[in-house]
Amino acid sequence: MQLYLDSASLNEVKQAADLGVLDGVTTNPSLIAKEGVPYSKRLEEICKVCSGPVSAEVIATDFAGMMREGKEHVKIAPQIVVKLPSTLDGLKACKAFSDDGIKTNLTLCFQPLQAMMVAKAGAFLVSPFIGRLDDIGQDGMQLIRDIRAIYDTYGMKTKLLAASIRHTNHLLHCALAGADVATCPLKVITDCMKHPLTDKGIEIFVNDYKKAFGG
Ligand code: G3P
Repeated sequence: MQLYLDSASLNEVKQAADLGVLDGVTTNPSLIAKEGVPYSKRLEEICKVCSGPVSAEVIATDFAGMMREGKEHVKIAPQIVVKLPSTLDGLKACKAFSDDGIKTNLTLCFQPLQAMMVAKAGAFLVSPFIGRLDDIGQDGMQLIRDIRAIYDTYGMKTKLLAASIRHTNHLLHCALAGADVATCPLKVITDCMKHPLTDKGIEIFVNDYKKAFGG
């Protein structure tokens, strides 16, 4: 499974890249709003650190506006993927960009038929949101399993990018369910390497060695 960082923080992108596990980056309007820098400048900076796909979301909600913003985003760097909402206008824009060879990420996907539709329109990525479904008492992971089943049944090529991941249990179950990609906050990525018995084991090894050989 590929791992993307879900962040607009350059510092976090650098930290994830240094770990050697960064396959791409996803950003959104809320994430860039926290940064206090122009979106295009930050995307350019991120693309210098990460050579994998970098999703740049449109703010427009109408087809013409999405096309206009998306065309500006793709001028920034070759790895930019235009992130569009999973709406009817987003679907039309997805088809238009795909026909022009421009990669898209259809975001805010909350039910499997949205994922089926955007795959038919040529989306490169679809972003089903797990955490936000859990937040309203639904089963976010079931959405991942349902999309996987539909895509596998019909040989749909769109990559299933699990999003709105809040903790390592989400990430583990995405990997087991066959998500192609998961986009996570930095904390979820670093938490993957944590276990109390690992820390305890290191402590025991170091103490045993020091007792025997000093130092
Ligand atoms: O980038 C989209 C998605 O990952 C947002 O996650 O935690 O705001 O629901 P969250």
